[in-house]
Amino acid sequence: MIFDILTLFPRMFAAPLGESIVGKAAERGLIEVRTHNIRDYAKGKHQVTDDRPFGGGEGMVMKPEPIMRALDKLKVEDPQPWVVLLSPQGNLFKQETAWKLSLLPRLVLICGRYEGVDERIAKYAADEEISIGDYVLSGGEFAAMVAIDAITRLIPGVLGNAASVQTETFSESLLEFPQYTRPQEYRGNKVPDVLLSGNHRAIKDWRRGQALLRTKLRRPDLFGRLQLSSDDLRFLRIAEKHLVEAAEEINCIDD
Ligand SMILES: C[S@@+](CC[C@H](N)C(=O)[O-])C[C@H]1O[C@@H](n2cnc3c(N)ncnc32)[C@H](O)[C@@H]1O
Repeated sequence: MIFDILTLFPRMFAAPLGESIVGKAAERGLIEVRTHNIRDYAKGKHQVTDDRPFGGGEGMVMKPEPIMRALDKLKVEDPQPWVVLLSPQGNLFKQETAWKLSLLPRLVLICGRYEGVDERIAKYAADEEISIGDYVLSGGEFAAMVAIDAITRLIPGVLGNAASVQTETFSESLLEFPQYTRPQEYRGNKVPDVLLSGNHRAIKDWRRGQALLRTKLRRPDLFGRLQLSSDDLRFLRIAEKHLVEAAEEINCIDD
């Protein structure tokens, strides 16, 4: 998959995208990340990319022409890209968005700065506006990195263990179960016995119950969308019972 990033700050991307899973995916040719400096598409001696807003107001707005020129060049190349404008006003980027975008051969990500990008880019040039959350960043660069990371790990061959993306948080509207590693006991806190039992069936059921309980407590919005089987209800009841018992044990110690 090819990512084309339109930005005023191309140097921001090298280190974050050059390391770990995304960096290795690029080394192995599973993805290609290209940065394009919007300023290179601005005309005139000063290569101006922003201007004051019509109607007055604070700050500067990114001009449409340099971005359009860059897009004109990229859009005629093969494969044809899907164009995303990063914006706090866009559709919320979710795991399902990452899955959808991971199927594309090529993605253009436009990073805004200042007060944002002239509205005509959203209206006439971008296929979609995407927000990574309900907060305002200073620029779209970090949003682009978040999207690239989340998308890349879903591309076949990128993760060593492909099964992990099927069980992790947000697959099936469910938060992932709690994970533990060595040591078995740390500062008096023990790993749940079931995980040391070697009983794979019991571990699977416990994990399912914990995932359901977590989702119910932390993300009732996601929990409400789940279709629970009779087994799920049983695993959830057991997880809730364990939670109550653990709370009672702590109360006993306090008393
Ligand atoms: C300071 S913001 C502009 C905010 C704009 N004035 C508004 O109120 O909607 C500058 C740029 O950062 C990027 N950005 C900020 N927050 C973002 C978010 N939550 N998701 C994606 N991009 C964001 C966008 O590209 C935006 O054009």
